[in-house]
Amino acid sequence: MLKSHTCGELDLAHVGERVTLAGWVNRRRDHGGLIFIDLRDRFGVTQVTINSDQAPDAHANASQARSEYVIQVQGVVAARPEGLRNPNLSTGDIEVHADQVTILNAAKNPPFYISGAADEVDETLRLQYRYLDIRRPRMAQNLALRHRMVRFIREYLSDRDFLEIETPILLKSTPEGARDFIVPSRLQSGKFYALPQSPQQLKQLLMVAGIERYFQIARCFRDEDLRADRQPEFTQLDLEMSFVDAADIRALIEGMLIALTGAENSRKQIKEIPFPIIEYAEAMEKYGVDRPDLRFGQQLFNVTDALRGSQFAVFQNAVTGGGEIKGVVYPGGANLTRREIDELTDFVKHYGAKGLVWIGLAGAPDAEGNFTGDALRSQVTKFLSAEELRTIVAASGAAVGDLILIVADKPGVVAQALSNLRLEIGKRANLIDPNLLAYCWVVDFPLLEYNEDDQRWYAVHHPFTSARDEDWDKLESDPGNVLAKAYDVVLNGWEVGGGSIRIHRSDRQDRLFARLGMSPTETEEQFGHLLEAFQYGAPPHGGIALGIDRLVALFAEATSIRDVIAFPKTAAGTDLMLDSPCSVTEAQLAELHIAVREEKK
Ligand code: AMO
Ligand code: AMP
Repeated sequence: MLKSHTCGELDLAHVGERVTLAGWVNRRRDHGGLIFIDLRDRFGVTQVTINSDQAPDAHANASQARSEYVIQVQGVVAARPEGLRNPNLSTGDIEVHADQVTILNAAKNPPFYISGAADEVDETLRLQYRYLDIRRPRMAQNLALRHRMVRFIREYLSDRDFLEIETPILLKSTPEGARDFIVPSRLQSGKFYALPQSPQQLKQLLMVAGIERYFQIARCFRDEDLRADRQPEFTQLDLEMSFVDAADIRALIEGMLIALTGAENSRKQIKEIPFPIIEYAEAMEKYGVDRPDLRFGQQLFNVTDALRGSQFAVFQNAVTGGGEIKGVVYPGGANLTRREIDELTDFVKHYGAKGLVWIGLAGAPDAEGNFTGDALRSQVTKFLSAEELRTIVAASGAAVGDLILIVADKPGVVAQALSNLRLEIGKRANLIDPNLLAYCWVVDFPLLEYNEDDQRWYAVHHPFTSARDEDWDKLESDPGNVLAKAYDVVLNGWEVGGGSIRIHRSDRQDRLFARLGMSPTETEEQFGHLLEAFQYGAPPHGGIALGIDRLVALFAEATSIRDVIAFPKTAAGTDLMLDSPCSVTEAQLAELHIAVREEKK
């Protein structure tokens, strides 16, 4: 080794020892006869001093060194004088008096400070020079956290008889609802592989194969629109078990997540154990989303039925159009300024709402329960009867000092607007305790959803998910009301995992494909292998996949999964460091039997 110790481990116990360190120059301060170098490696920073009287050659070399030069130093560990110790540094009690300094490699001046805070640097620059970005402590810590979490998961599952099995990357289309990335075949002209959107079908085939307990840290590929929590390639903990029901899978994953959370979040607390189980319909009703952030309350309230007869045009139009009237309370918001309320109105408009009804509860009602005088602050009091106002206040559960906010629109718009407004209120009113990790399960999803555009049913999860036993009868007659044996695990408002009990009988799988409008020929072409396998003794089975990137990001308190991926892609799906995707040569295309069609402008 070119070093005897790391830059993070020397302390007073090493005083007097001769050591060799190697790393990068974090900072160099030149005081003439004395040069200070903060030497950095992955493990920490150690102060090195070089004295021109005692070590003239070392001093000469040290004076050449600049930020990010790679150097090696040899010297003796010494206690720093009292008063010059740095309690914020693990090596802050000592320094190394170097008598030899070797420059191993020079470095250009980096485009950003390696020692500065990660968020001060433009992300484009960070992605372009990712190898420098990862040299920064924040990114390096995130990658170390990721390593520990994956290692924990591997050990946890290995201890419980799971086998980690690799499945192919060059695969055939596996429907998870996104577009496939496809790879042309050179040997089979005009044919393509698809990269896996997940190992879904293969893990089910492994259950037919009798593996019983499988997992994989699996790379998945989905060509979809990217966001802070979505990458075109990402990593799942993919898992499947035989002879289980939904509760067994949930218990295993819950136990693992609790243990993992305990191992990595000493300052944080899981809000509720066992994790609350929320039905999809209830989640939509109370939070407007299927991945509620349960770190705080502010459940939505629903006054659609109570205000069905209202004369207020906004409410009337919504209700006659098949819509809903729902709201949420902003605690202590009664005295928000008009500007702040307008900001909230613009906020919900961003999610498709036409406006926002606001009612500030400035004072208490009179003896009859009516709000008179200045008790209510609102633009719409004149459109609503005293009884309607009482109804709204009661349904909202608002207290004096609170602000009631209401959206009336189609259910989808109301859900979008209010779920996001609820989160915004959580932020603005400081309702979110950053030390909480609020896990929950969301269950009883619908199996199918109808698409108006092409007038057909689609699987909400993927087409291998089983209906609840009691709902199979309704598959043909009432498909919209068939619920799935599916479950998602949610953490602080992020969907971190999803899975289901699968269909394991080929007759039922056939029925579902037919319900999705697939002809027997199509079914045979795409899924013949699975249907055939199911005829050779497929055990009942089910599983789940956790989004590793999302879980690590939540543990790392990163706002984007890009911050926990070594080499992520931009929102446009590009790699700024490698400059990919890129064109290929005519020769490569010819070999692949491919002609590129120019995009029509
Ligand atoms: P699903 O599609 O719900 O299920 O994916 C499982 C989990 O993977 C994560 N995830 C993503 N993370 C980053 N970028 C993406 N583009 C992305 N897409 C999904 C999420 C999600 O909860 N085969 C099924 C699992 C099963 O049924 O066992 C599947 O892939 O955290
Ligand atoms: P208007 O009648 O359009 O001037 O709206 C009166 C008030 O109702 C304004 O405060 C609007 O922001 C609000 N508003 C309008 N449409 C809706 C809606 N669909 N849901 C909730 N509030 C609305």
